[in-house]
Amino acid sequence: MESLAVSTNNLTKIYNQGKASEVVALNNFNLGVKKGEIYGLLGGNGAGKTTTVRILTTMIRATSGNAKVLGYDIITNSREVRQIVGCLPQDAGLYEEFSAIENLDFIAQLRGLDSEKRKEQREELIQLVGLEKRKNDRVETFSGGMKRRLMIARSMIGNPEILFLDEPTAGIDVLVSRKVRELIKQLAINKKITTIVSTHDMIFAERLCDRVGIIRKGKLVAEDTPSAIVEKYGDGGDLEDAVVHLIGWVGDEEGELA
Ligand SMILES: Nc1ncnc2c1ncn2[C@@H]1O[C@H](COP(=O)(O)OP(=O)(O)OP(=O)(O)O)[C@@H](O)[C@H]1O
Ligand SMILES: [Mg+2]
Repeated sequence: MESLAVSTNNLTKIYNQGKASEVVALNNFNLGVKKGEIYGLLGGNGAGKTTTVRILTTMIRATSGNAKVLGYDIITNSREVRQIVGCLPQDAGLYEEFSAIENLDFIAQLRGLDSEKRKEQREELIQLVGLEKRKNDRVETFSGGMKRRLMIARSMIGNPEILFLDEPTAGIDVLVSRKVRELIKQLAINKKITTIVSTHDMIFAERLCDRVGIIRKGKLVAEDTPSAIVEKYGDGGDLEDAVVHLIGWVGDEEGELA
């Protein structure tokens, strides 16, 4: 039985290949996320986290290498992959002129849910992210954090088996951040949903993730439980100290740590 929810094999992404603006965003990136695990992708701006999420959710194609999501090849089985993943993209917006409920319903329709299931899910999810009172208001009247909460709800439509959340707590307050954390944990425990979450919020990562991977220049430079990462690289400090050490580290261009 396949025990990995996500595995990548020398995944490489070069944007604008051959042009002056060429960027190597992922460089022979190898990742293995276990089923049911909550895995945090950490790293500096431009490290390659969003690129990883985009490739694994089939939004963009890798330049070389390959990857599997719950056993499905992301290229040859991309349809199946799309059916089992839920995604909160870093930068994709909501339909501003639609209400919160309409935004959820629209995605539920795309996912092929019947009207009863759609109603059940949208009401459950709206409640989960604490937007019941505003559910019929147009999204353009929402604050940034409220929009983020709605995007979190949207990523969970259709009961995905694996969730990709790209900076889910950007712009949300500590109470909602805590709720999001509890929700992801619940989903992992009760529904065995695997979650891959990219974040710059070290407290969120430390309290939520079973393991974290630190990406630097498109390579995984360290991977372990948050406490083991702190112990190995934190120099007596916390996860932030460890990550600062890891991503600030200057060595050979391969990006490998000794
Ligand atoms: N569409 C694109 N065209 C060209 N370069 C891109 C594109 N998208 C990302 N890049 C580049 O690829 C590299 C990795 O970007 P990516 O968005 O994956 O980083 P990230 O780890 O998500 O960063 P952040 O923490 O800022 O969100 C960066 O150098 C970025 O400028
Ligand atoms: Mg990003």
